[in-house]
Amino acid sequence: MDLFEYQARDLFERYGVPVLAGIIADTPAEAKAAAETIGGTVVVKAQVKAGGRGKAGGVKVVHDPDAAAAAAEQILGLDIKGHVVRRVMVAQGARIAREFYFSVLLDRANRSYLSLCSVEGGMEIEELAVERPDALARVEVDPAEGITLDKAREIAAAGHFDAELIEKVAPVIRKLYDVYTGEDATLVEVNPLVLTEDGQVLALDGKVTLDENAGFRHPEHAELEDAASADPLEAAAKENDLNYVKLDGEVGIIGNGAGLVMSTLDVVAYAGEKHGGVKPANFLDIGGGASATVMAAGLDVILGDSQVKSVFVNVFGGITSCVAVANGIVQALEILGDAATKPLVVRLDGNQVEEGRAILAAANHPLVTIASSMDDGADKAAELAAA
Ligand SMILES: Nc1ncnc2c1ncn2[C@@H]1O[C@H](COP(=O)(O)OP(=O)(O)OP(=O)(O)O)[C@@H](O)[C@H]1O
Ligand SMILES: [Mg+2]
Repeated sequence: MDLFEYQARDLFERYGVPVLAGIIADTPAEAKAAAETIGGTVVVKAQVKAGGRGKAGGVKVVHDPDAAAAAAEQILGLDIKGHVVRRVMVAQGARIAREFYFSVLLDRANRSYLSLCSVEGGMEIEELAVERPDALARVEVDPAEGITLDKAREIAAAGHFDAELIEKVAPVIRKLYDVYTGEDATLVEVNPLVLTEDGQVLALDGKVTLDENAGFRHPEHAELEDAASADPLEAAAKENDLNYVKLDGEVGIIGNGAGLVMSTLDVVAYAGEKHGGVKPANFLDIGGGASATVMAAGLDVILGDSQVKSVFVNVFGGITSCVAVANGIVQALEILGDAATKPLVVRLDGNQVEEGRAILAAANHPLVTIASSMDDGADKAAELAAA
């Protein structure tokens, strides 16, 4: 989960990373009030989960509250790389002498952590990385040892900081690592980390990605979720621990195992070409188990998508028996009752397939069609969606 800059700023503050005052605002009037509270020069900053806000006109320096309101007026509603700005942060203005770059991230390929650092930070960092890769130091961080003060000095030295600057930034780098481990993040990036004219080091921007697999250790992270911009169906699926991705077509898909669901999307898209170009409406992997409750939750999410015209349930019983899946489907339809309104094509194969099909046949639900193979099921589901 990516955080907004203001959320990263709050985390930084809690860990003792030096930051400036920042107040969020959803309207120009709130931005004006925030600028009055902070006083003096402030920076109005778009809060979107996308890079390049400054270049897109989403960061404006202003010198009085009325100008802050005007800046917010311009920034709110702006589209930055497909993200519409709904909120700004009014931040205290810094008198910047120099801009640096620092990040620490999970390096999956090397099963380690990696720190990137450069004395030449700021908005051009992506270009710097391409044009002069040597200027951006890459230093491996051993997860067992972490970033000690000495390691922080090593990272800063590799990023070409001079001796005096190293002593100033190393303690901040060390604290940023506390944020990284303390919050179970996979990325903590500060661009720019600045030196002010009066010699302070400050984090003026922050990007933090939290590891959702560690969510059980951080119940407080739930509050950081951006419920407003999440797709409502995806949010409902998430609540039930379902792996769901909404797509644009008409055939709802339920399968077990990511590989099977992916190939189901392919066969349905292929079959759809014969039936007026209907397409898969979603990816939904119910995983192992396939109990009635999981099946009901999955069907509920898919049927909640008004674009869906038919549903293809494609389950291969491996460890899970087709009996459990068939019972799951029958009970799920009972649970859903009148909420189940669209035709369902079911293909079962594998462990106890005959018994599973017999259960579906005996239930004889008017919405359910049993398919003999995956291709056959995809074809029927596409046909029903086109009808
Ligand atoms: N509080 C501040 N005071 C003074 N200048 C600031 C402040 N915040 C940002 N700036 C200036 O604006 C520039 C861009 O800000 P910031 O880094 O937050 O956004 P960005 O890098 O354009 O966006 P993104 O990080 O999404 O790519 C900074 O490099 C800095 O020069
Ligand atoms: Mg930045």
